[in-house]
Amino acid sequence: MLLTFGALAGRDQRSAGPRPAGRVGDWAVMNSVTPNDESTTAAGDGWSEDMELAPVHPGDRPAAEPDGDREGERLQKVLARAGVGSRRVCEDMIEAGRISVNGRQVTVQGMRVDPGRDKIAVDGVRIEIREDRITYAMNKPPGVITAMSDDRNRPTVGDMVGDLAKGLVHVGRLDQDTEGLLLLTNDGELAHRLAHPSYEVRKTYLAQVSGPVPRDMARRLRAGVELDDGPVAADSFRVVDTHAGQSVVEIVLHEGRKHIVRRLLAHVGLPVSRLTRTAVGPIELQRMRSGSIRRLSKEELGSLQELVGL
Ligand code: URA
Repeated sequence: MLLTFGALAGRDQRSAGPRPAGRVGDWAVMNSVTPNDESTTAAGDGWSEDMELAPVHPGDRPAAEPDGDREGERLQKVLARAGVGSRRVCEDMIEAGRISVNGRQVTVQGMRVDPGRDKIAVDGVRIEIREDRITYAMNKPPGVITAMSDDRNRPTVGDMVGDLAKGLVHVGRLDQDTEGLLLLTNDGELAHRLAHPSYEVRKTYLAQVSGPVPRDMARRLRAGVELDDGPVAADSFRVVDTHAGQSVVEIVLHEGRKHIVRRLLAHVGLPVSRLTRTAVGPIELQRMRSGSIRRLSKEELGSLQELVGL
């Protein structure tokens, strides 16, 4: 094997900086934190200008509902339950203007919110407050099929999640031979949107390819090529490493078609011998061990929802 697929600790696979001393061709599954591209919420839904006088979200109740029958939960309670801090701390954060609901800063205590509908942000960063919505990141090993079960008894991601599996669906698919980041969620709408082509969610891959990479490859891939089932263009492409006739390249696509990375790179003369997905939108594989699973944080979930307009 010409390239060694080990972790290059601390190296950001997306930065163009110099490679630290080490073996040429180490497989970089890096660990940088991506700042949310859009960390603030969209303004508006259900908000009224008199909110500060009547700190009840108007969307919590129908217009005809009597004042005494207001629904929703107190914001500080919802925040505390989501793990933002103790109720007292959350009240201080509200007081300090650090909390917004549906894009509007909250400055009074006692506002009632609907955790199922309202979009809450802390310091401008959207957070998921619904406890029943769970999303996991898995580092899928090669050889495991992306299915919750298999009638031919092949190993599946469903086997790997085991007891966690109730109500979980995988978000899109990775080929059996592809490894890396696979999201699993019990939020059907989130899964649907993340996988739907119209949302153009960017996926980042590291591929080990044969042959030197021609200098104009990035330009060619960004311009797009025609495959059997239509055109495809890369959002970005760069060579991470080259050694002894093999290269590791990083490619970002917002396509979800079958075998798309392998087909695209083979089409331009770069057959793939190993493929790892390292990011889906703002969620990164980080240094997860092959086969490991972690629950996404409320900030990560918030950023995913923001990305697909939820
Ligand atoms: N493209 C591929 O070729 N395979 C995958 O698993 C994902 C994207």
